[in-house]
Formats: sequence, C-alpha cells, structure tokens
Amino acid sequence: MSKNTTFSKTYKPTHDEAARQGFVGSLKGYLNGRLEVDLDERYESHLKPQFVAANGRAPETRDEGTEAFSHDHAYQLWGAAVFTSQDLMWETVDDTCQRLLPDLAARHRALQDSDAFGRLELDADIELPEPIRNVEIHRQPGGYFNDDEENGLLTGLRYFGTVELYRAAKGLAATDQTGAPGMGQFILAALKRRFPELAPTSILDLGCGTGTETVAYAQSFPEAEVWGVDLSEPLLRFAHTWAGDGGHSINFRQADARHTGFSDESFDLIVSNILFHETWFDILPDIMREALRLLRPGGVFLNVDIPYQPHRLSIPKQVTNHWQVVNNGEPFWTGFADMDMREQLVAAGFEQEHVFADYDAIGSGEFHVFGGRKV
Ligand SMILES: C[S@@+](CC[C@H](N)C(=O)[O-])C[C@H]1O[C@@H](n2cnc3c(N)ncnc32)[C@H](O)[C@@H]1O
Repeated sequence: MSKNTTFSKTYKPTHDEAARQGFVGSLKGYLNGRLEVDLDERYESHLKPQFVAANGRAPETRDEGTEAFSHDHAYQLWGAAVFTSQDLMWETVDDTCQRLLPDLAARHRALQDSDAFGRLELDADIELPEPIRNVEIHRQPGGYFNDDEENGLLTGLRYFGTVELYRAAKGLAATDQTGAPGMGQFILAALKRRFPELAPTSILDLGCGTGTETVAYAQSFPEAEVWGVDLSEPLLRFAHTWAGDGGHSINFRQADARHTGFSDESFDLIVSNILFHETWFDILPDIMREALRLLRPGGVFLNVDIPYQPHRLSIPKQVTNHWQVVNNGEPFWTGFADMDMREQLVAAGFEQEHVFADYDAIGSGEFHVFGGRKV
C-alpha cells in the first residue's frame, strides 16, 4: 500500500493496460458513434423503404423497427461487435483491477480504526429482489452482488475501472482527477438551478453504488450528514473504503430503496444517479413513495437518468437501445424509458405543481432530471 496518497492517485493502468483500454474505448466510440450513424443512413436508404413496400407504411414502434433491421448484415455486424467490445472491456479492465486490489484491500484494513470511516451498515438477512439479483448488469462478471474476494472490493473496483475507461476515452482522464464525481457535480448543478436556496443538513444518495458520486454531496455540503444506500454489499464495501480513503465521513447502508429503514422525515435532500434504469421498473413507484416519506417538508428529491424516452428517439436509435436490453446487460432500460416520470411522481404522492421532469444539457448530450419538492 502506498502511504500519504489516496487510491484515486494510485489507480493507474500501466502503459500496456492503458493501450488496451484505449483501444476498447475507441472501439466503443466508433461502434456507438460512426457505426450507428451508418445504421441510420442504411435504415433511411434501404430498410425503411423495404418495410414500406411490404407493409404500406413506415415502422412506428421499436418492435417494427427491429423487424426491419433484423436480417440486415450491417446491423448484425454492429451487434456482434458491440457484444465483443463489452467482453473486451471487462477483460482489459480486470488486469488493472486484479493488480491494484491488494493495495485497495490494505487501505481498507488500515482505515478500520480511522475517524474518516463513516458507518457501514450491512444487512445479512436482506432479500435481494427478483429479477435484480439474477442479472449481470452491463454483463459485469459476477454482477453487482457476487464477490469472492476477502474484502468484497473487486466488484466495485471493476465497476470503477470501466467508468475510468470511459472517462479516458472521452479525454477526461488528462483533465480530471481519477474517480472525480462528474455526475455528482452535474446533480448539484441541476439542484442549484432549481432550488438555489436549499442548504440540506442531511442527504441520502439512493443506489449510491461505488459511492464516487456521493462524495460530491459531502464536499458540497460539509456540515450535512450524508448517507448512501444500495442493495449491493460488495459495492457498498468499495464505497465505504473509497470515501474513507479520500477522507470523507460518509455513512452507507445496505437496503432496498423501497424500504430503507430510516424514520419519516429524515432527510432534506434525496438524490439518485442512474438508479432508476437499473432497478426493476415495477418497483419504481415504491421507491418514489419511500423518498416522499423520508423527506422533511421543503425537502427535495432529485434524480438523474438516461434521456432515451422513445418519443425523443428515431426508430434506429430505439432499435439499437433495445438491442442493449436484450443482449448487453441492460434489462431494465426500456422499461424505465417507457414510463412518464412526472406521472409516476404524482402517483407516488408528490404534488403536481411541485414536480419536475426535464432534460439538462451535459457536454453534447442531455440527461433526464426528474423529482419533486415535498410541501
Ligand atoms: C448504475 S449503478 C449507479 C451507482 C451510482 N449511483 C453511480 O452513479 O455511480 C445503479 C445502482 O443501483 C443499485 N440498485 C438497483 N436497484 C436498487 C434498489 N431497489 N435499491 C437500492 N439500490 C438499488 C445497484 O446495486 C447499483 O449500485
């Protein structure tokens, strides 16, 4: 273990690891960028006209779009390449993770008696809901819930490593600190834009995962008590170690976001980042009801998630997105995207005039920002 430095500085792919990860990042950029543009063009020039000739009209739904694409060789090649790039991603990131795991485990042990460690509340009796427990999200080996290593840190490290791979592929690695909470900052900006006066004293991050984004809330509101909740014990172990190693006293609890175990009106800010498209959409209304219960009057619930609601997407984009659902470890994605968040929030008990569901810009893209204020 290196002393006097944080794991964010230690986490560094070697030259060869970085070269392989760079290749995977570029490949993914090409497949999700240029090649999807080619698929769009192919759809307009060939596949849509063929569908129109057979059916008298253009495809109107992603299922009809999938039918139009299904026998196309370019689409099949795209799918095979995306699938393979996902395997390559886990394989290349794993080299770095396995090499750095002993250092992270040593930090974890050294932190046990430190004040920087907030609480870690695990629940040995937790029942992981079906179908979440049996899914390997993103096709991550072992998924979010299995970890054979002594300290259960490998699952989080793998997740973290892939986020870093994407960050490097976007050119952010050179400008940003490793593990810097980019989405946490985005959430804080979205909050400030809507509720500039909010000064929370207690904050809950639902589906906090590796806790890298949770750190942003602790940094921004240093006086606040900050909690992260997640279903995954291994991810929480990583989060706890990551936060403590960075000198942040953040508390973590293993719980289902539907019933977190906190008392009524415990928080004045509840946030989540990309939780809702990774949890089973059937339980989404229960999570919103729980958030309303946990908020103090005047408190805010603010969530950021994928902007791929079908009404905003072309048919080819709906098709390629849904391909990820069926083939690439994103089983809850379209279920979430098909739901109207404003309607769900109101159904959960938030008042119509205090609910929001918009799209905020980030880089050249956007994220869906939705939530409500409790009156
Ligand atoms: C994509 S990860 C996002 C993690 C973190 N918010 C981030 O931005 O890095 C989604 C997380 O939601 C958690 N999750 C899914 N369903 C949940 C539920 N019902 N209750 C609590 N956590 C849940 C998963 O275990 C996972 O850690």
